[in-house]
Amino acid sequence: MTDLKYKRIILKLSGEALAGDQGFGIHPPVIKTVAKEVKDVYELGLQIGIVVGGGNMWRGESGAQMGMERAQADYIGMLATIMNALALQDNLESLDVPTRVQTSIEMREIAEPYIRRKAIRHLEKNRVVIFAGGTGSPYFSTDTTAALRAAEINADAILMAKNGVDGVYSADPNVDVNAVKYDHLTQMDIINKGLHVMDSTASTLSMDNDIPLEVFNLNQPGNIKKVVLGEQIGTTVRG
Ligand code: GTP
Repeated sequence: MTDLKYKRIILKLSGEALAGDQGFGIHPPVIKTVAKEVKDVYELGLQIGIVVGGGNMWRGESGAQMGMERAQADYIGMLATIMNALALQDNLESLDVPTRVQTSIEMREIAEPYIRRKAIRHLEKNRVVIFAGGTGSPYFSTDTTAALRAAEINADAILMAKNGVDGVYSADPNVDVNAVKYDHLTQMDIINKGLHVMDSTASTLSMDNDIPLEVFNLNQPGNIKKVVLGEQIGTTVRG
């Protein structure tokens, strides 16, 4: 088997990564490309869990800002992640990658419910497991879901695939010309320097459970593969 830096990962995909330039919804050619990238790493023999966001359709926080009750707005967001998960499953299976979708909120006609031990068994049988519906509770993000599922399935790392951003910078590179990209950081550096990688709940969960993060740009073909093969292309964050 190829020399892999990680054997079992959680890949965090933002919902926006499925929208492409149209900025909303699911853009079929874009999701096909993402699925192809996942297939390329799947073929290396890696065990892959995917947590997908829903921001390409709905953001709970934005709904709340527009006057909606926050919990209600978050439930709509969870449903958005389930739609993305089903679309991703469809695309992966059309490329002959075996998958299982597990939802944090039971909807058995559509997908399996989330059962930790079953998810691990699927991974051991080389099925890509897509964790849909966020944590199933309002007030949490899909970054937190990624950290939670990574801890639960004993993932070696969380791969934070960003939409157009190639790592963690000292400042916003679009605003500050002096912004520098970090290759390596600790979770403590992130807190001390006031950087933003994940929301604080997700950061704390990854730090407490000693789960490394790899932050990199999804939009460059081959990047997921480079990360799992140990190439330093983005920012690695360790506890
Ligand atoms: P093994 O136990 O390793 O054989 O895993 P498996 O997933 O192949 O077995 P299972 O018989 O549990 O599932 C067969 C198919 O049914 C898979 O595509 C599952 O995703 C799907 N499936 C299992 N449970 C549910 C469920 O509660 N709801 C829905 N919609 N599909 C399910």
